[in-house]
Amino acid sequence: MKPAASKHPLRNKRALRSALLRWFEAHREDHPWRQTTDPYAILVSEIMLQQTTVAAVRQNRRFEKFLATFPDLPTLAAAKERTLLQAWEGLGYYNRVRNLQKTALAVLNDHHGTFPSDPTTLQTLPGVGRYTAGAVATFAFGKSVPIVDANIARVLSRLFNDPTPIDSTPGQALLWDRAAQLVDPNSPREFNSAIMELGQTHCSARRPDCPHCPARQFCQTTKPEHLPTKKPKRAAVQVTEHVLLVRKPNGHILLAQESGSRRNGFWKLPERDQEAVADLPLLATHKYAITHHRVTFHIHSCPPTQVPPPSKSCPEQYHPAKSLPSLPIPSPIRKALDRLL
Ligand code: ADE
Repeated sequence: MKPAASKHPLRNKRALRSALLRWFEAHREDHPWRQTTDPYAILVSEIMLQQTTVAAVRQNRRFEKFLATFPDLPTLAAAKERTLLQAWEGLGYYNRVRNLQKTALAVLNDHHGTFPSDPTTLQTLPGVGRYTAGAVATFAFGKSVPIVDANIARVLSRLFNDPTPIDSTPGQALLWDRAAQLVDPNSPREFNSAIMELGQTHCSARRPDCPHCPARQFCQTTKPEHLPTKKPKRAAVQVTEHVLLVRKPNGHILLAQESGSRRNGFWKLPERDQEAVADLPLLATHKYAITHHRVTFHIHSCPPTQVPPPSKSCPEQYHPAKSLPSLPIPSPIRKALDRLL
């Protein structure tokens, strides 16, 4: 058990700020999105980092590649959906990149091509919530505004030893209020980066490293591993899908295009009811998780002459195998196909 610190974070704001800033100055990561103040690039990084770890974005140069494909607002605004989805492939949650494009259009059309800099106006943009608006305001425009993401929420809940669930309405209100009181008006960009990076390093979820933490003198908790708390989770829903692998003698593969869902425009293997696939040999079974769903999908081999009629109205079409790399395909399905073909 760690001792509770003697200095309260709010009564010693200046000392806490300078401890964090000194530590950050000495240990900061030089992320590519920290080398720009272009609000467009900052927004891209924040949207990307909402669903993918810093390590994965850095390792695969996802941020740099996206900006090389869409260097500015007009290029992104004019992009075809297919190019857009392809540039986001593997990152998941494709509505985010669709919203990013809508935001590009909104900035061009409603704001004369200039990003707004205040969080309230930023929040009117598609897909831009309180965190993202604050991040753009502070990282691009240097505004002294609070930001609270999962890392900062963890740091604050431990610093204040507060067991209020961080995903509850009162918990969120407390977090944003405390973040607003702590942000350093003289170095808001560095302060916000520092507290976020503290959550990614010493104040990690699983293994808090309190002895080396630059905020240890201010941290009120004695049991960091018990914080933060969250509301009880809703149970995961188990889903089973049966899909077909249909290959013509010329190597063309039958695919179905999704419409109306989150993955609108994506190509996947054609789905059938369990009864329809009962006599077809099973080739492989894969699992993946999305939000609170646990999906198990069974891939059945099916000759082109025996394709059971579809139960849902999804347009189905044969595609040459060599065109698959350039089609938008959800990554669990692409992985399964890569193994089979
Ligand atoms: N995760 C989300 N935004 C980030 C940022 N600006 N720096 C580091 N990690 C982040």
